Amino acid sequence: MILIKLGGSVITDKAAYRTFRKETVARLAEEIKRSGEEVLIVHGAGSFGHVVSKEYGIQKGYSRPEQIPAAARVICDCCELSSMVVEELLAAGIPAATVPIAAAFVADNGKLIADNDEPIRRLADLGIIPVMYGDVITDRSMGFSIVSGDQIMEMLCRMYSPSRVVFVSDIDGLYTADPKTDPSAELIREVTKDTLARIRTSSSVDDVTGGVEAKMEAMLRMTSEDRDCVLINGNVPGRLYSLLKGHDVICTSAKGGIQ
Ligand code: IPE
Repeated sequence: MILIKLGGSVITDKAAYRTFRKETVARLAEEIKRSGEEVLIVHGAGSFGHVVSKEYGIQKGYSRPEQIPAAARVICDCCELSSMVVEELLAAGIPAATVPIAAAFVADNGKLIADNDEPIRRLADLGIIPVMYGDVITDRSMGFSIVSGDQIMEMLCRMYSPSRVVFVSDIDGLYTADPKTDPSAELIREVTKDTLARIRTSSSVDDVTGGVEAKMEAMLRMTSEDRDCVLINGNVPGRLYSLLKGHDVICTSAKGGIQ
């Protein structure tokens, strides 16, 4: 089984509140179906989650009453986004169902507590792909918090030991610097725990170290001796399909675990 996250940057226009990229999602769904691979799918929230969450500090937990209608708004927006994603999966012939994480789990201090996986396992056993997404969730310490699609990916990785983990985004992979602003930025083709150590000690990538390092670490945590974790550009038609078929594509691939 291959675990796939459709990132918020590819399924929505991150700069414009509640803008769904229907054609892109329809194409990615068709590429997944055509590959014939068994998959589990997670998605991000993009502009359906980040815009209002940022405005009201939802990720910091409860501090003032005005956050309550805002948190409810984000829950509604993310659920609507997920319904639209699932519509495209169904249209492509992939039986899928939206599973809001707040109905199945709680969090503590921003960390998802995955102690009740029965509904997810049962859906998957039936052959219905449970689709979870980054969302607002109740939190034992903070009232509410936000659990990202990446955290859900880590949970599903522990539950299902997929053969491969794929992050579909709007960039070709991880870069040594921001390629949109720095022409010397280079694509990092392969990440191992040694690459991570090099990035940490390299002064030339200081300004983006936090972001790249954090993503590399998260990717490495999802790898093992026989499972890689790949970051690819979903805006390039056919790239997800080729990757799922096992072809070499432009991407960043993390390998070998983090220990
Ligand atoms: C964010 O989830 C969830 C909310 C802001 C409510 P993700 O972090 O997985 O979303 P993307 O992929 O960055 O958009």
